[in-house]
Amino acid sequence: MRHISKLPDVGTTIFTVMGALAKKHHAINLAQGFPDFKMDENLIDLVTSAMQNGHNQYAPMQGDLGLREAIAKKFDLLYGTSYHPENEITITTGATQAIFSIISAFIKPNDEVIIFRPAYDCYEPTIALNGGKTVSVALESPNFKVDWNEVKSKINSRTKMMVINTPQNPIGTVFSEADMRQLQQLTIGTDIIILSDEVYEHMVFDGEKHQSACLFPDLKSRSFIVASFGKTFHNTGWKMGYCCAPQPLMSELRKVHQFNVFSVNHPMQKALAAYLQNENRYLELSAFYQQKRDLFLSLIKDSRFKFTPSKGTYFQLLDYSGITQENDVDFAKRLTVENKLTSIPISVFYDTKIESKMLRFCFAKKDETLKQAAEILNQI
Ligand SMILES: Cc1ncc(COP(=O)(O)O)c(C=O)c1O
Repeated sequence: MRHISKLPDVGTTIFTVMGALAKKHHAINLAQGFPDFKMDENLIDLVTSAMQNGHNQYAPMQGDLGLREAIAKKFDLLYGTSYHPENEITITTGATQAIFSIISAFIKPNDEVIIFRPAYDCYEPTIALNGGKTVSVALESPNFKVDWNEVKSKINSRTKMMVINTPQNPIGTVFSEADMRQLQQLTIGTDIIILSDEVYEHMVFDGEKHQSACLFPDLKSRSFIVASFGKTFHNTGWKMGYCCAPQPLMSELRKVHQFNVFSVNHPMQKALAAYLQNENRYLELSAFYQQKRDLFLSLIKDSRFKFTPSKGTYFQLLDYSGITQENDVDFAKRLTVENKLTSIPISVFYDTKIESKMLRFCFAKKDETLKQAAEILNQI
């Protein structure tokens, strides 16, 4: 039987490749973005209670109302802005499903979507599956600043959507207030939808403030904010997330969501609704991860790797240009095989060939794991 692939250029992701290599060579795996420490037992207990209390059948399509109300309260507390729990918040199967459904709800063949590279890997295939065209704006090391004139030059009548990701995976940068104002200025008066991937909103360091798209009135009116409980509460395996948008946008999203998953894990929604009542559970996250970042960087400060401290996310880029001129994929593989430490090469997050001498390390790890990784890096 012959078939035509809808995604002919998509192969196995770098996360799978590096994860398998780490396993084969018994390497410390700082490649994929997940914690190696335990999540809060209280949240597990809340899920158990929810199951024992009978919340084992389909949840409402939009999500549990109590959870949507808790999310609305969080937006009010953090950003002084409101989303109506009834028709402006939807619970999703992780951020990934929200992204898939948002793009699918709006992108038609030949529509253009602007993304900033190096970009998280699910945006482009989803745009392609819907017949859209990805238009890339490359952010370049060392500071990965956005050239807003370049963005402007790429906007045209076919531009339907822009995807932003602040704090940004894999580079650990954040959009400043000035960046967000530039974005608002460029999109004002257009029909461009913003997909604002804010899954690392609670991991912003050095006293900086997370610049959510919802803080800027015109941006808010055209934005979906996408969030991930997995990132925030150390349980990426649960695949729980949500998105928020003004009602006219949200009602389109729900048309896709209801036929994509229909509804999301019910006991976990009940548990998260109760857990969110204590805001310290997310307010303390930036300090928690800043301590991990600082520990990791203090341990490798005398190594031959160079770095600019990550401003957000739980990723740190290390520049190895003072060590070898190998390309980043080869070097990442060699580090795994010979030194037993796995990372992710940055070049794979671009669509063009770039000369990267940077590797991404995840510091969402126990202190002892970070110490072991640092010992290896110090020997290279
Ligand atoms: C930028 C970004 N967006 C979305 C996701 C996916 O989040 P989830 O696991 O909730 O689907 C990730 C996960 O690594 C990510 O880094």
